[in-house]
Amino acid sequence: MKERLVVITGTTAGLGKGLFEALKDSCDIITVNRRMPEDRSHINICADLSDVETVKRCGLEKMLSVRTGYNSYVFINNAFTMGSLTDACELDADDVVDSVSVNVTSAILLMNGFVRAVRGRAQDVRVVNITSGAARRSLHGWSLYCMSKAAMEMYVNCLGNDCPEIKCFNIDPGVVDTDMQVKIRDFKVGREHGVFDSLARDGRLKTPAQAAEMIIKECL
Ligand SMILES: NC(=O)c1ccc[n+]([C@@H]2O[C@H](COP(=O)([O-])OP(=O)(O)OC[C@H]3O[C@@H](n4cnc5c(N)ncnc54)[C@H](OP(=O)(O)O)[C@@H]3O)[C@@H](O)[C@H]2O)c1
Repeated sequence: MKERLVVITGTTAGLGKGLFEALKDSCDIITVNRRMPEDRSHINICADLSDVETVKRCGLEKMLSVRTGYNSYVFINNAFTMGSLTDACELDADDVVDSVSVNVTSAILLMNGFVRAVRGRAQDVRVVNITSGAARRSLHGWSLYCMSKAAMEMYVNCLGNDCPEIKCFNIDPGVVDTDMQVKIRDFKVGREHGVFDSLARDGRLKTPAQAAEMIIKECL
């Protein structure tokens, strides 16, 4: 058993995978994914975060309640959906429900289960929310993403305020070379398309490993 137990959502790809790779040797890890990650050396809770009923019954709290004896417990909220990129007046109803379910409702349910299970059990309990500049700046076509990121930043601020013994972080990884950026570059009518396209063409995207290293340094 290691000294620290870390729960990470969305480790099958991108930044979540980078965080998992960076932490797997030094921490015990529980992941939450809708499909099995390649690395099966740890426990994975299988849950599609768009299915809130499944998330309610996913068993994270119960699983943590028997994992005692760690000096430190960390929850990293990383999984997300971008939803379809389109004007805020033209949203698809299913997309709205999905985005709120994955990015907000399920994220809060999992964080709450984590906090309830481990609160008071160790001096060091942390919640790390992977956020984005989009929480504070509207970008053309990204309304569901911007709204979700803003909601989660505020929820985590409230959590830190209500439970001061829990160290809460909202951290922006910067622009990272993942599927998310591919989707953004494919949205060619977006007014900010040129900015993200030139960042990629100029080789200015962080690798998931670089972003993970920065997050670990700042928050863990
Ligand atoms: N990339 C950037 O430039 C950037 C910038 C700022 C912030 N961020 C933040 O960084 C975090 C990770 O983004 P990323 O760029 O690494 O994206 P990514 O490569 O698209 O990875 C997203 C992860 O979320 C999981 N996920 C999506 N929908 C899910 C669902 N319904 N249920 C369970 N898991 C689901 C994906 O699983 P599947 O493999 O099953 O789809 C995947 O593991 C996000 O919170 C994002 O907002 C990224």
